[in-house]
Amino acid sequence: MSTLVIGGAGYIGAHVVRLLLHRGEDVVVVDDLSTGAAHRVGEATLVELDVAGPDAQESLELVMRERGVTSVIHFAAKKQVGESVARPTWYYRQNIGGLANVLAAMEGTGVSNMIFSSSAAVYGMPPVEVVTEGTDCRPINPYGETKLVGEWMLADCERAWGLRWAGLRYFNVAGAGWPELGDPAVLNLVPMVLDRLARGERPKIFGDDYPTPDGTCIRDYIHVLDLAHAHLAAMDHLSSDAELTEHVFNVGTGTGASVREVIDAIGEASGLDVTADVEPRRAGDPPQLIAAPDLIRDVLSWKAEHGLADIIRSAWEAWQAGPRRIG
Ligand code: UFG
Repeated sequence: MSTLVIGGAGYIGAHVVRLLLHRGEDVVVVDDLSTGAAHRVGEATLVELDVAGPDAQESLELVMRERGVTSVIHFAAKKQVGESVARPTWYYRQNIGGLANVLAAMEGTGVSNMIFSSSAAVYGMPPVEVVTEGTDCRPINPYGETKLVGEWMLADCERAWGLRWAGLRYFNVAGAGWPELGDPAVLNLVPMVLDRLARGERPKIFGDDYPTPDGTCIRDYIHVLDLAHAHLAAMDHLSSDAELTEHVFNVGTGTGASVREVIDAIGEASGLDVTADVEPRRAGDPPQLIAAPDLIRDVLSWKAEHGLADIIRSAWEAWQAGPRRIG
């Protein structure tokens, strides 16, 4: 019996792989290494494969049969909003086509459990301050659309052949559970601020005229290690004989932090001067996005253990352990 982690060499996937290995599970990772790195999977078996590539279904079926896979955790996807606007068909092919191949292979081999990486991007610009899973999903870019369609595909497979699934809608993921597993990409606020500091430049704030207390956007930051534990809780739920009444879960803390608060926390953790430059607003940023975390607490008995200070401290330590340490 083993767990197949697709995209397990990436930032979030590698944290989940490490937790699974720590609890003694047999783990096989499929990853195309386009953004992931082989060293991040530790003792897990790594199969290099693009799930959206030719013959992916057959290759996946082979892995599933040979390794006695019983559950799949599917991280592999493109995740840059701007890129998805510029190259929508590529996003459909990678995120939706890739997921279709994985589901077809699961159906073909009788693997019934899947955890899917969804995103708060499914909500778009929500009209409420705190979003529940019942809030209308109106994604505003192809990236968010691919995540919502992914959830629909899983629900369809449940009806058609009994797939047992959970979709985790991640809010703003940051931090590191182990210094060597920090976020290697410079795509989100925390690494973008650290990257600018490493270059001797000032952090940027994209807009300080939002209708929030300090004028900067508010997000729900979730420690990547907490998020990884949420996957284990979801997996245990699917593997039990519980009837699955809920399928999509917000993964957040229920607490928001503004861009300025995050930058100040980086100053606190690093001792650096983090005086920021204010730039114009970035297109498509909702002023506030906070998760109601009640459903996942009630159904999966999961809640976040780490707040913003822990997240930022761990992100700073991970950055300092890398090749671009500051100071
Ligand atoms: N920001 C800055 N300066 C920077 C970088 C970001 O002010 O240098 C601001 C952004 O404008 C935004 C906030 O920091 O207000 C957070 O930005 P991120 O890019 O870190 O994250 P987003 O909330 O835009 O997006 C994240 C994920 C997406 C996902 C979305 C869902 O990166 O994949 O959450 O809510 F779609």
